[in-house]
Amino acid sequence: MTTSTKVLLLNSSILGDGGQSRALAEHFKTQAAERDDISVTERDLVAQALPHLQGEELASWMVPEGERSDAQHALAARSEALLDELFAHDVVVFAVPLYNLGIPSQLKAWFDRVLRAGRTFRYTENGPQGLLEGKRAVILAARGGEYVGTALDSQTPHLTHMLGLMGIGEVDFVYAEGLAMGEGRREAALKEARQGIASLTARL
Ligand SMILES: Cc1cc2nc3c(=O)[nH]c(=O)nc-3n(C[C@H](O)[C@H](O)[C@H](O)COP(=O)(O)O)c2cc1C
Repeated sequence: MTTSTKVLLLNSSILGDGGQSRALAEHFKTQAAERDDISVTERDLVAQALPHLQGEELASWMVPEGERSDAQHALAARSEALLDELFAHDVVVFAVPLYNLGIPSQLKAWFDRVLRAGRTFRYTENGPQGLLEGKRAVILAARGGEYVGTALDSQTPHLTHMLGLMGIGEVDFVYAEGLAMGEGRREAALKEARQGIASLTARL
């Protein structure tokens, strides 16, 4: 029997099907479809429209399940559903646009609900310790300009550290940069990214 690798694919472009990160995600899905040992669950975090994390929702996590009010159950359920989905997959593929030098707020809202002390990491005398084991992540990054290796690329360390906090230390990035720097640059970047996605998918 073949063991299936379960992939959670998270889209976060506000441009939907017209987004370049979505095009990278589609290429990943095409590559994955050629493998009968990979299954993909896809989510559109923009369509899901998680609200900003607020104090009431945070507080609901601290109340023992049996003692929550109906309102607290409903608030805690948002994070619990996302955590259940994260726990149930082996690989998380993030299709990530660069917006205003950062990640989309919709993706931040997802991280705000899965980065939970006691669930995905814990505090120890030696600092935080990730609680997720055996998972890896892939970032498909679409960017108008070119930033890799410069101080302006805050996205790469931010994503790496948020995933690392949960114990996901194996993170691969595929960049499609310079997408707003002319047709030639754009086509070359997308071609290179598609090749990167193909070789990464072969290693999943
Ligand atoms: C609201 C917004 C903010 C953006 N900010 C930046 C930016 O700071 N730097 C950059 O290089 N490109 C920026 N871009 C261009 C995007 O990175 C580029 O269009 C990329 O393809 C976005 O991914 P998407 O097409 O999947 O949405 C921005 C685009 C939008 C719509």
